Amino acid sequence: MKIIMLGAPGAGKGTQAKKIADKYSIPHISTGDIFRANIKEGTELGKKAKTYMDQGLLVPDDLVVDLVVDRVQQDDCKNGYVLDGFPRTIPQAESLDAALEKLNDKIDYAVNVEVPDENIIRRMSGRRACLGCGATYHIEHIPPKTEGICDTCGKELVLRDDDKPETVKKRLDVYHEQTQPLIDYYTKKNVLAEVDGTKDMEEVFQDIVKVLGA
Ligand code: AP5
Repeated sequence: MKIIMLGAPGAGKGTQAKKIADKYSIPHISTGDIFRANIKEGTELGKKAKTYMDQGLLVPDDLVVDLVVDRVQQDDCKNGYVLDGFPRTIPQAESLDAALEKLNDKIDYAVNVEVPDENIIRRMSGRRACLGCGATYHIEHIPPKTEGICDTCGKELVLRDDDKPETVKKRLDVYHEQTQPLIDYYTKKNVLAEVDGTKDMEEVFQDIVKVLGA
């Protein structure tokens, strides 16, 4: 099953993508996580990506498309994958479709996790991310067992640089302008499924499982 997660920053794409990946035993491919890992390692890609991410802007398409197209052709993606944070622009979606078409393949579902902007700002300020393994928590909804420490790997939890309220507002503007048009794009391809992302995380997941029909 080849799945794309759509939704505003903080809508819960990553949270749901991890659950989908676990349930269906397919890889979770998050472009945000890939960039953050590169930033942490100080790679050239990470240095370039950081200048855009810190301002709440999208990283240019040419830095992300080849990376994802290569990744989805790796062996562990044979039975499917869940893409989280990609595509984010119409040119990215068209490049992905063109690459898949050459492989005689296509996306099965684009799941849009729908959450109004006003909920997003509240969610993001409570999110904490692990510097070690990338796990995410929320200080109210999913707190770690020990404050500030990751349950999984024991490393420090931080507020992401781009989760500061002024950057979140910019990310929302960028989302509405550049990413929301993908909802129409995937509707026209008959693969769009909408879920209400304001529900409790487990309910959102059950709604997604119903849509995926497995
Ligand atoms: P990325 O990491 O992809 O950020 P994003 O899309 O802005 O998404 P987030 O990770 O912020 O949120 P999410 O929807 O995954 O929500 P989460 O599950 O964590 O990208 C970061 C940056 O990288 C971009 O701004 C861009 O610069 C660059 N980039 C990445 N991909 C790119 C691309 N393809 N092209 C160009 N640039 C790219 O949930 C959020 C919080 O809410 C958490 O604390 C969670 O615990 C909580 N929560 C989740 N679900 C619920 C619920 N149902 N109820 C209550 N709380 C909930």
